[in-house]
Amino acid sequence: MTEGMDAGRREFLKRGTLILGGLTLLGLAIPSGVYVLAPLWKRSEEEWVEVAAVSEVPVGQPTKIEFVRRKKDGWVTIEGRSSAWVVTADGRQFTAYDPRCTHLGCPYRFDAAQGKFLCPCHTAMFDIDGNVLSGPAPRPLDRFETKVVGKKLLIKPAVEKKEG
Ligand code: FES
Repeated sequence: MTEGMDAGRREFLKRGTLILGGLTLLGLAIPSGVYVLAPLWKRSEEEWVEVAAVSEVPVGQPTKIEFVRRKKDGWVTIEGRSSAWVVTADGRQFTAYDPRCTHLGCPYRFDAAQGKFLCPCHTAMFDIDGNVLSGPAPRPLDRFETKVVGKKLLIKPAVEKKEG
């Protein structure tokens, strides 16, 4: 073998090793990068919150339930106090209303004597199904998703807007 052929072979092996090493690094870096950065591309989302035992919610009587809501945003989980007006007619199906009036967001209350939700800010009035009875509210009360798991009521406090 000549000196020139050895040099060419060494150069070929050197380049081949570099290319294989580079491909191996890429094969490791791409999945790792996707795993680390994936939370940035996900929409922030409210988490389901266990708010009460099903048996604790009175049948036919709207009840304000307070809870801590959690929202994942990227790598961060944000917590904050929240509440919902929960209504059930049978102890099995539950409706949870956003506690903010659909007019300008004031907190409203349930008036048991009238059987209606009343907003003190501009006198909007809603029935127990959340429908607007009077006042300036442009749509029914906003709702949160609910589900029952075992004997617990869970709420996902992301507003589902119902058009009026
Ligand atoms: S905020 Fe409730 S009526 Fe205006």
